[in-house]
Amino acid sequence: MPLRRPRAVLATLAVFGVTALATTGLLSGCTGLFGAPVISTVGEVEFGAPLAIPPLAVSTVDADGTRVFDLTADEGGTEFLPGQATPTAGYNGSYLGPTLRASRGEQVEVRFTNRLDETTTLHWHGMHLPAAIDGGPHQPVAPGASWTPRWRIDQPAATLWYHPHPHGETADQVREGLAGMFILDDPAEAALPLPRDYGVDDIPVIVQDAAIRPDGSLGFTSDGFVGKLGDTLLVNGTVGPYLDVVTDVVRLRLLNASSARIYRFAFSDEREFAQIASDGGLLSAPVPVRGVQLSPGERAEVLVRMAPGEHVVLRSELPDLGGVVGFGGAADGASDRFDVLELRAAGVLASTGSVPAALVPVERIDPGEASEVRDFVLDGTQINQQKMDMNRIDAVVTVDTTELWRVRNNMSFPHNFHVHDVQFQVVSIDGAPPPPELAGWKDTVYLPPDRTYELVMRFADYADAEHPYMYHCHLLRHEDLGMMGQFVVVEPGQDVKIEESSHDHH
Ligand code: C2O
Ligand code: CU
Ligand code: CU
Repeated sequence: MPLRRPRAVLATLAVFGVTALATTGLLSGCTGLFGAPVISTVGEVEFGAPLAIPPLAVSTVDADGTRVFDLTADEGGTEFLPGQATPTAGYNGSYLGPTLRASRGEQVEVRFTNRLDETTTLHWHGMHLPAAIDGGPHQPVAPGASWTPRWRIDQPAATLWYHPHPHGETADQVREGLAGMFILDDPAEAALPLPRDYGVDDIPVIVQDAAIRPDGSLGFTSDGFVGKLGDTLLVNGTVGPYLDVVTDVVRLRLLNASSARIYRFAFSDEREFAQIASDGGLLSAPVPVRGVQLSPGERAEVLVRMAPGEHVVLRSELPDLGGVVGFGGAADGASDRFDVLELRAAGVLASTGSVPAALVPVERIDPGEASEVRDFVLDGTQINQQKMDMNRIDAVVTVDTTELWRVRNNMSFPHNFHVHDVQFQVVSIDGAPPPPELAGWKDTVYLPPDRTYELVMRFADYADAEHPYMYHCHLLRHEDLGMMGQFVVVEPGQDVKIEESSHDHH
């Protein structure tokens, strides 16, 4: 691929001498990775556009109290760069989708219509709901067809998201813009003095990378082991965004909705900020941090304290991939840095109160209660030396039990691991306790090379011997290549009756 941002690349060469060789292609023969460019947009972004805030989805409440949303997936065009229409797709709009919002205990229904010219699915990432409406590869929605899942919200307040999950096509559909946020509320979160005025002091920050070709079409700047990477960040679909901050503390709901890129979010002045939530909800207490790393699919909520009149830039600094280094690392984004979003504080800031000392109790799941221990080894683009087969069940879980999953990345390249149905807890990393930011509820975790993550999870309910849930690497290329397995949750002693899928390609 030609380099489209010579200015940004040149700025980086001084820092990373070795990558000068990579960008000239001299090393491409050694790496087999086509001389991945090293990208830095730090100091290069003009922040000329106000951050787009996805609208809150309109909902109606039925006679029986069900909150009903309408979502339609359709193709469209989006002007990421002025005067250039990029072919995109979105829900109820041309790119991304509205933010759905519901409270714990509420019954929700989503009336989904597929107006794309290809089959899609609609998956509720992080949501605890029956497998039959999980929206994975077994619930295809054909062009023109509709699908209306209905469930009760039964989990803590959290920042979740939704996206397509068709077998083998997820990366392309997400990259085109099919993704949105799903915020859950509950009384425990509502009782805390946290910013929660959506779009004002409680801000969705959906981060994706893209490469926008001169004709407006979406391309990529490198194509490494992790998948396609781009040199332009889209934040809620905005290129070069700024946010006018009007309160002394602002809450950012960070979502990595990229297909391959791993970000380490930090501020231009290296200020400390507080991580208050991970994928599945609030942590027990705010964790003071100077950086938050998110691999594809992961979320974090953070509180940032602002002084009147100041400007500070949210960046993505070099990610800590845990041993993914060298020439291969450049193609996997290990050497890239970005300006993400400029926060511009008003001269006078309203007070939202202090950062609370404690958040919510996070009940620890006792790994000693696990009735089953399973091992998952990620190697190549397979899990336990097998590719996804929609007609094979890889694990049968008994409902109302706890399991310990030992997950290991056997390679020197990045992977991560996502489990549907449940939020898990990281028990240990190579035997050591997890850092505090990984000690809360998670549904997706980055897997550095050669380390074993022990995850404990409880399969409380929703036994269904006919419909599987998925676990997989959330680097979307890997997922599409079949780095995924299926589990069913059954009543004790129940036989698995997996239906022959009409959507199977094997
Ligand atoms: Cu974000 Cu299996 O999904
Ligand atoms: Cu998921
Ligand atoms: Cu992977």
